[in-house]
Amino acid sequence: MSQPPYILAIDQGTTSTRCILFDAAAVPVAVAQREFAQHYLQHGWVEHDPEDIWRDTVAVLREVVAKAEVQLADIAGLGITNQRETVVVWERATGRPIYNAIVWQDRRTADACARLKESGAEAMVSGKTGLLLDPYFSGTKLAWILDNVAGARAAADLGELAFGTIDSFLLSRLTRGKVHATDPTNAGRTLLFDIFEQRWDDELLRLFDIPASLLPEVFDNSHVFGHLDPDILGAPIPIAGMAGDQQAALFGQGCVRPGMAKSTYGTGCFLLMNLGETPVLSTNRLLTTPACRLNGKTQYALEGSIFVAGAAVKWLRDGLKIITRASETHDMATRVPDSHGVYMVPAFVGMGAPYWDPAARGLICGLTLNATDAHLARAALESVAYQTMDLIDAMAADAGPAATALRVDGGMAANDWLCQFLADMLEAPVERPAIVETTALGAAFLAGMATGVWDGVGALEGLWSLDRRFEPAMEAPKRETMVAGWRKAVARALL
Ligand code: G3P
Repeated sequence: MSQPPYILAIDQGTTSTRCILFDAAAVPVAVAQREFAQHYLQHGWVEHDPEDIWRDTVAVLREVVAKAEVQLADIAGLGITNQRETVVVWERATGRPIYNAIVWQDRRTADACARLKESGAEAMVSGKTGLLLDPYFSGTKLAWILDNVAGARAAADLGELAFGTIDSFLLSRLTRGKVHATDPTNAGRTLLFDIFEQRWDDELLRLFDIPASLLPEVFDNSHVFGHLDPDILGAPIPIAGMAGDQQAALFGQGCVRPGMAKSTYGTGCFLLMNLGETPVLSTNRLLTTPACRLNGKTQYALEGSIFVAGAAVKWLRDGLKIITRASETHDMATRVPDSHGVYMVPAFVGMGAPYWDPAARGLICGLTLNATDAHLARAALESVAYQTMDLIDAMAADAGPAATALRVDGGMAANDWLCQFLADMLEAPVERPAIVETTALGAAFLAGMATGVWDGVGALEGLWSLDRRFEPAMEAPKRETMVAGWRKAVARALL
């Protein structure tokens, strides 16, 4: 082989930081992972310490390389994928963050968004960004930091500060402050970037009161952004791919043609359907978002974002304490014939698509004295499938039905019962790939394409293979009754 055969991928997620080394057949060779602290300082606030993220990133990089026992010269490139929308502001001179990272789940700017909506700005914002005025996105979070950290606005006006989503923050640190850049999939989640023109937009910057001096430069997803500081691993490995984690997963799932869709079950659930080069603006409260930009050509995706999926199971473990391991929910769900009329609407941080109600709160309803922990666990899993069904329905209304089976990945996709229930609710097949590390794989693909490991998108399609396909099997009347119960429960959760 003329090119070195390995690619590193960093997957900086909401609750953990992972690093995976892939070989040229896209097989994971070594993995390292670290969980880090979540800071819930006030009701609805979620923060991360960027120094935790940085420390863990370096640690997992070193651990993977040590585990894999490969020569550094055989690593062709490094890809970065990340939790999107999460905001970091740092001093250009020192690289020091001026505040914690405000996480995508954080709701502190709900009122600011409501005011902007009342002012009638949403149509303009959606028309340029494909997004909605919701605290989920970066723009109002960035303004909050500038307005609430002493001296921040003045420093920003002097050009002393840099803003980035996590990709951009890590890129800056990994290149020892040399590169301040991002990619269209991350820029496209800030509310500041015109996804059709592919540039930061002055009207949006004025609306959110953000100085342009803070912003990173935007490059294609598969591009040599810079080189790794040799002090980190001992070699200046090219950092050659970056993408937000959900777009990386779309790529890693091989959904590179219009109509192909994937759903990733992590903390939340994010369902993306590839639209090709012709964007569709949703009329059903979904998002339009860049899927990737390669050689200057942008492909778009429709996205449905659910804020709580795996987080509902985490709550069963850490909040209710009725399980000790997430995997126990599989046996609990199969132990009972149904949820016994119990529904959980996991609106712990409001409701995302297609409802977009930041004030909604979670509920469990239909409880009787016969309800058990197993019914609750089953209701939590069912809620993930119902929410996915709501997204698929909205997507079909916007862009027609998905062209192929829904491809699933993320931790919860390992749950066979959930995959089957999902196929039943969607009345469509669900496919689970053999390599479930699709997010990291997507970042590796992007870096591998820029460094000659893979020729182009065509070479990647052949690397996807099926683990198991789940066919819908539930009778229609039973499904309809269950779905009707879900709709009633959701109506109660919305305020
Ligand atoms: O938009 C938020 C998303 O990128 C977070 O993904 O996998 O960290 O929950 P995850």
